[in-house]
Amino acid sequence: MSTGKVDVLLGLQWGDEGKGKVVDVLTPHYDVIARFQGGPNAGHTLEFNGEKYVLRSIPSGIFQGGKINIIGNGVVLAPDLFMAEAQELEKSGHDLKRRLHISKKAHLIMPTHRVLDAAYEAAKGSGKVGTTGKGIGPAYTDKISRNGLRVGDIFDGFAEKYAAHKARHEAILQSMHYTNYDITEAEQRWMEGIDYMRQFEIVDSEHEINHLLQTGKSILCEGAQGTMLDIDFGSYPFVTSSNTITAGACTGLGIGPNKIGHVYGIMKAYCTRVGAGPFPTELFDETGKKIRDLGHEYGAVTGRERRCGWIDLVALRYSIMINGVTQLIMMKSDVLDTFDTIKACVAYKQRGEVINHFPYDIEHDIEPVYETLPGWKTDMTGFTSEAQFPAAFKQYIAFLEAQLATPIKIISIGPDRNQTIIRE
Ligand code: GDP
Ligand code: IMO
Ligand code: MG
Repeated sequence: MSTGKVDVLLGLQWGDEGKGKVVDVLTPHYDVIARFQGGPNAGHTLEFNGEKYVLRSIPSGIFQGGKINIIGNGVVLAPDLFMAEAQELEKSGHDLKRRLHISKKAHLIMPTHRVLDAAYEAAKGSGKVGTTGKGIGPAYTDKISRNGLRVGDIFDGFAEKYAAHKARHEAILQSMHYTNYDITEAEQRWMEGIDYMRQFEIVDSEHEINHLLQTGKSILCEGAQGTMLDIDFGSYPFVTSSNTITAGACTGLGIGPNKIGHVYGIMKAYCTRVGAGPFPTELFDETGKKIRDLGHEYGAVTGRERRCGWIDLVALRYSIMINGVTQLIMMKSDVLDTFDTIKACVAYKQRGEVINHFPYDIEHDIEPVYETLPGWKTDMTGFTSEAQFPAAFKQYIAFLEAQLATPIKIISIGPDRNQTIIRE
């Protein structure tokens, strides 16, 4: 499957499309799996052999065959959460010390970044983003404003650097009159996390990746969040603070754009969103509730209820364009197995006009234009090949491929690793 280039797998909607599951499924075809952005705001779920894992900062390529996994420079890492995640994996027999490599240039999320995250959200009042509270925005803000603390800093004069950054954060919090917090315990865990991290391979990951490529190794990049949460192209300001798109793999790992091969775009057969912000096809009725119940649509990290709605082909066409998607992966089609009819948003109506493109403003006066398709009314969760797909499901796939002008290569029919159909 590999092209000898760097393939990228990323979400096309508002995150939680099922990236973790598919990275795990594809891992046997690659030598290296690399995360390029985001941090512990991600929650990537994998299920196999009756076991379930939720990964946050660690790539989803750790379970299949001793592959190298890399946390790239574009990631923001919280040492305490990283330690908790890695120790949990150690307990279940997965020691990652030698095969999980961490970029020296990845930025650290400090305890005070999390306090700042809470303070900024509180200051926004009803306009809050509904962040995961993991300090993502403040850590990336420090990076961009050239105030960041990086993994490579832990080897030289770290205590002084940490203290200076902390003092700067405390001054900001003072100025916001946000002083009712206590990070004593968190800070202790965080420092333990720093020491724990030293046991891993801390590398110049841009050199490593390019060397691996030159020596014929195949690399899969694992996106976090989704295109609709991208800092530039998502539903700003209700977005995360990194580039979640294909271009993010170049900057987040140090890979030239001409080295990018396949771009796998993942979508659900419907749509979800967690946190605040516009969502044109959101359903507030029984159908939305049914999707949430059948799809177990609750956040993998925060447990928050996910908002549910029909698939939005206008937004997907935009995501496919921005990412240069070469093939699609459709997840959770089984969730729609019992529906009589299924709707797909093919255009928007805005100010009385039907539009096919994704507009600047998706917050105001947006009405989805739907096409209704027949449901397949078949339990597909035990299927093993596409030959078993009922006619109505084949029709749904053909409709989506025509609308999106991109082939759907993988269809997921359940959360387990084995519930995956790769189309010929
Ligand atoms: P990610 O963040 O993109 O990796 O996705 P999450 O793990 O946050 O959310 C996807 C959820 O759907 C997880 O609970 C998965 O176990 C589950 N899942 C993945 N694929 C399927 C599928 O095809 N059908 C069903 N029913 N669940 C799935
Ligand atoms: P994975 O990788 C879904 C959302 C938050 C919030 C916004 C900003 O599992 O798909 P942040 O903490 O990043 O500053 O929050 O982005 N968000 C996600 N939603 N899946 C994710 O990750 C998300 N990571 C962040 O809910 O609306
Ligand atoms: Mg998730």
